[in-house]
Amino acid sequence: MDHNLALDFVRVTEAAAYASAHWVGRGDNESADQAAVTAMRDAFSALDIDGEIVIGEGERDEAPMLFIGEHVGCCKGGTMVSTKKIDIAVDPLEGTNICAKGGINAISVLAAGPKGTLLKAPDTYMDKIAVGPQARGAIDIDASVKDNIYAVADKLGKPPDELTVIILERDRHKDLISQVRHAGARIRLIGDGDVSAAISTVFDYSGIDMLLGIGGAPEGVLAAAALKTLGGDMQGRLKYRNEKEKERAQAMGIGDLDRVFGLDDMVRGDHSMFVATGVTDGPLLKGVRFTSWGAVTNSVAMRSYSGTVRFLDTQHHFRDTPEDWWNKIKEDNKHNKTPKVKQSH
Ligand code: FBP
Repeated sequence: MDHNLALDFVRVTEAAAYASAHWVGRGDNESADQAAVTAMRDAFSALDIDGEIVIGEGERDEAPMLFIGEHVGCCKGGTMVSTKKIDIAVDPLEGTNICAKGGINAISVLAAGPKGTLLKAPDTYMDKIAVGPQARGAIDIDASVKDNIYAVADKLGKPPDELTVIILERDRHKDLISQVRHAGARIRLIGDGDVSAAISTVFDYSGIDMLLGIGGAPEGVLAAAALKTLGGDMQGRLKYRNEKEKERAQAMGIGDLDRVFGLDDMVRGDHSMFVATGVTDGPLLKGVRFTSWGAVTNSVAMRSYSGTVRFLDTQHHFRDTPEDWWNKIKEDNKHNKTPKVKQSH
């Protein structure tokens, strides 16, 4: 896949992060999410891609923007045609609650790959286990919690009581938490945001060694795209709340409902990308910082083919509002002009 595309995608998560950052701490989940979705969708229209949303805001009838199956990119609705057919998984605001409360670790995130390479995960839950590169090959979602903790501790060369497991704080995890405690490992409980939690297993400075527990299946695929480039490991199994979710999964092509998905099943091939921009501060990314002249965003762009991981601080100097900027781009696209991307200076 085109090298420069990962960097182009950064503009998309930057736009979503910038928009939702205006809603940090304002207690309005819906507006924060809507701002991110609208900005992300607008930003896609500047890119020379024929992107299909395979993981998005929901079904066409329940989500007017970034719904599953929606085509995004400059060719959408206009006369321009792009030959770059790409699967795209998005979460314009991962950690809506975090953003609304002004907590840590809200991000805007997307993963992309050539058409047919990203798992079309239904909007169900997924049981997940994830680790960084050093513990690659040590995890088995079918083994006991204790066995996994001991195997990972062994690979990391430290005793289980020095291992830290990150888990979403949910009632459904009561038994999991007591099993981890029984095995002697330490726990970090988080309110939301298991994409960045899974990624944190890769970075020593996070102090996190392993992610366990049930979170969103779409978030599982997004995390898998990052872990693939970073050399980590992950397994996931879909969890269904009812028969309707099972039917939905089958309709989306999941044949074996209890299948264990590894990294390569969730993100096939070697041409995937993962891009994220911080909305609020977290160990992986800084949140959006507003200035007198605009804003600074902090993003990460990863490309599995080269294994490149870029951290970017971007200064956005807005001469006019970002909305004006995207409107201009859309206008240009309508008239089949090459989209102009506003330059930071
Ligand atoms: P959203 O911000 O998209 O709502 O996701 C937040 C999140 O915490 C995810 O990181 C996680 O996978 C999922 O919600 C867990 O779902 P639930 O809140 O239903 O337990």
